[in-house]
Amino acid sequence: MFKFGFDVEVDSNNPFVNKNLESEKEVINTSSKTDKREWYKAEKVTIGVETLENLDVYKLNATTLNIADVPIQHIVTGFLIEHITCNASDNKDIAEAEQTHSDLIPGVYEGGAKIWECTEDLLQYLAKSIKPQYWDGKRVLDLGCGAGLLGIYAYRCGAVVHFQDYNKDVLTQITIPNVMLNVETQTKPVDEKSNAIETEMKIEENFNIELLEQNLHFYSGDWWEYAELTTKSAEDKTNKFDYIFTSETIYNPQNQQKLLDTFYAKLSTDGVVLVAAKTYYFGVGGGLRQFEELITSDKRFQCKVVWSSVQGVGREILELRFK
Ligand SMILES: C[S@@+](CC[C@H](N)C(=O)[O-])C[C@H]1O[C@@H](n2cnc3c(N)ncnc32)[C@H](O)[C@@H]1O
Repeated sequence: MFKFGFDVEVDSNNPFVNKNLESEKEVINTSSKTDKREWYKAEKVTIGVETLENLDVYKLNATTLNIADVPIQHIVTGFLIEHITCNASDNKDIAEAEQTHSDLIPGVYEGGAKIWECTEDLLQYLAKSIKPQYWDGKRVLDLGCGAGLLGIYAYRCGAVVHFQDYNKDVLTQITIPNVMLNVETQTKPVDEKSNAIETEMKIEENFNIELLEQNLHFYSGDWWEYAELTTKSAEDKTNKFDYIFTSETIYNPQNQQKLLDTFYAKLSTDGVVLVAAKTYYFGVGGGLRQFEELITSDKRFQCKVVWSSVQGVGREILELRFK
């Protein structure tokens, strides 16, 4: 049975907590450790020089996922976790989760260092239901992006993509390196006389970060904070999205209202949100039926299931649009 390996506090005053939780109480331990933690503030994260310096190492530890005709390069999770725990002083949140063998530590580390299975469901769904050319020039938000494969897919198809993850560590150590593995074609031209090896080196030296950051944006922090930060700035006044992708982000009922409010703040009038998730998250209380109840009582969105799999733990894709 799928079950998150972490404890979560159940807030009995929270109207969004699934009523079925009463029967799940024996599997949910309240964690006083998380009681007093504040959710992280949002911040814009830039592409660091050290990511470019490490690109060769990342390439050696990368694999390719082909979604229809679109190859997505990403670093293998095992290598990353090892790399990150070896550099634990800079990457405290992921290292803390790794040391305690937790998939998530609420409010500290929210699981972005792994690729969760609903990501692949949504990638396959996108490839089957929307032509890659459609994405050219579209604005896409990969919300709770983790490794960022959904956003990378859209980026490779020509979209402008914003990546958001709770943990800055995840963005700097995983998302941005993964994105950089997929942007080699967007570099400054190199000297034609160079041989192949030199060309490869020059590509790395010549990433035009300014140009890249016109189409790629990264934000860390809590959803509410992120929505507030990006809606406040002048740059982001027109910063709504045609599509919001979000995979495996509804497990904690206490955070679902934040998620809906972020959809509300960031989705363009005709935009679409695609939520890929498990039907039920054992031990935590979140799940798609309970999330649908919240959407109904919230009254701002209409929603329907557009894909489902009943094999093993049920997994589905929910589509939301403004009413
Ligand atoms: C289980 S991981 C899923 C990662 C990725 N989407 C995947 O499918 O592989 C959940 C993600 O939700 C995001 N998340 C959860 N709670 C959040 C919160 N309160 N504010 C911002 N992001 C949050 C984290 O960034 C985390 O990466």
